[in-house]
Amino acid sequence: MAACSFRRTIASQLSKVLDLPPENLIKSISAVPVSKNRHVADFQLSIASVTEGSSSDCLAQDLNLQAQKLAERTVLQQVLKDGSEYGVKSELFSTVPRQKAVIEFSSPNIAKKFHIGHLRSTIVGNFIANLKVALGHEVIRINYLGDWGMQFGLLAVGFQRFGNKDKLKSSPLQHLFEVYVQINKAAEDENTKKLAKDFFRKLEEHDEQPLSLWKQFRDFSIEEYIRIYKRLGVHFDEYSGESFYQEKSQEVLKILEDKGLLQKTEKGTGIVDLSEKKDLSSFSTVMRSDGTSLYITRDLAAAIDRMNKHSWDTMIYVTDKSQSNHFQHLFQILKLMGYDWAERCQHVSFGLVQGMKTRRGEVIFLEDVLNEVRSRMLQNMASAKTTKEIEDPMETAEKVGLAALIVQDFRGLLSSDYQFSWDRALQSRGDTGVFLQYTHARLHSLEQMHGNEQLTDVNVACLQEPSAISVLQHLLRYDEVLYRSSQDLQPKHIVSYLLTLSHLAAVAHKTLPVKGSTPELAQARLRLFQAARSVLANGMKLLGITPVTQM
Ligand code: ARG
Repeated sequence: MAACSFRRTIASQLSKVLDLPPENLIKSISAVPVSKNRHVADFQLSIASVTEGSSSDCLAQDLNLQAQKLAERTVLQQVLKDGSEYGVKSELFSTVPRQKAVIEFSSPNIAKKFHIGHLRSTIVGNFIANLKVALGHEVIRINYLGDWGMQFGLLAVGFQRFGNKDKLKSSPLQHLFEVYVQINKAAEDENTKKLAKDFFRKLEEHDEQPLSLWKQFRDFSIEEYIRIYKRLGVHFDEYSGESFYQEKSQEVLKILEDKGLLQKTEKGTGIVDLSEKKDLSSFSTVMRSDGTSLYITRDLAAAIDRMNKHSWDTMIYVTDKSQSNHFQHLFQILKLMGYDWAERCQHVSFGLVQGMKTRRGEVIFLEDVLNEVRSRMLQNMASAKTTKEIEDPMETAEKVGLAALIVQDFRGLLSSDYQFSWDRALQSRGDTGVFLQYTHARLHSLEQMHGNEQLTDVNVACLQEPSAISVLQHLLRYDEVLYRSSQDLQPKHIVSYLLTLSHLAAVAHKTLPVKGSTPELAQARLRLFQAARSVLANGMKLLGITPVTQM
């Protein structure tokens, strides 16, 4: 019987009494969070929202008992049987239609800083994509690069002056950034400005030589991005970018004009009136006075193109909240253009991270952050007494370090700003990614120690201790937590769930020895720890963390 079928069992009984379809009731049944004082499996039936009747109290009590028995008997089997699908198969998701989602995230700008906002976009977007895939949706991951604009004119002039082909090949991101910084200093000079403008104009006219240089900048950069994203466990289905929409944005301007939505200002720029009263109290500029497109025009073209290409059901953009206005305008214009699907576009925004510095200073390259967290973690591991002989300490340090970054970032609401701290993130005790990894590694080695054989006919009824029951109860709630995160796209529900799971598992580990117990009890306890580790690993992977098996 499925762990999640408690809900079904309870719902179908309730449905008879209340004369309502069980589907309507499933979501009203929730497992009460574990509290230290209560050690019985408890199900809260928030049926008040469905009905108000005196019989429901009795009924609820009855169902509680039943739920308790079911919980203790079946959750472990279910977790171990479903493996990575535990929780996502829950009835809670049975009424959610499978969809195709385009998720656009990371989206750095070539030759510019990869700042902490891009890192946040990367891990948040990756989390949303992982979660959607786990829940059975089809996901297209798009990286929309800042790969067009005047900066490329300047960059090309800079490259001719300070560039080096070998460096471009060996470390494109760093080299292009350096060239860009250098040429920016020189750009005061009128001649440089003119050269840059000329180059960019030729680029827009698709002149072969400028285009081929630009393409090298882009291709080499992408190659390096792919390598670095790989360290983060992130991949993209498409490397798109603003450059793709140079021409298509001219078509957008044409449509806007044909629909009577494009107005010309005195200065000759093109704007779209977004105000309700059509008094220009709110508007968006979509065209420069020379007829060229802007950031938002290219985004309009990109949105339409993605719809044509992918016929998606939902499209999500992940950036910091400073771009909220931009996306609101984007969706409003699409709506005015008559695209009803604009309502299915969503901007997932997040707050600012303050004070992240690496040894090199302010964050400029993603790779610096990854190297920094890895080396700090290596140091911590070397000084910790508990650290065993590890096969590949660098790789372990990287995975644990990333877990630390991700958990620190995902602990609060995405929209809140937070102060970054290496020390806080990397604490081995307390609510950190290091603690999650540590718990996972410990549970894993417990399994290893006692053999990994398929246990059959385990008598889970002998798991009667409060610390065991707490873990069982907590395992039962996993689907609810996934459901919550899938609704508001906030990773914090999963993070705090996993932290609690780890704390409960630590207590259980301390109080429920496997060694020295009767075979029956030992087997049941092993099962319990196995199930806890399995759910912990599943949840960590959703967050974008690779669980380690030793540390
Ligand atoms: N490249 C932009 C930046 O770094 C982010 C792009 C966000 N996505 C978009 N479709 N506008 O700010």
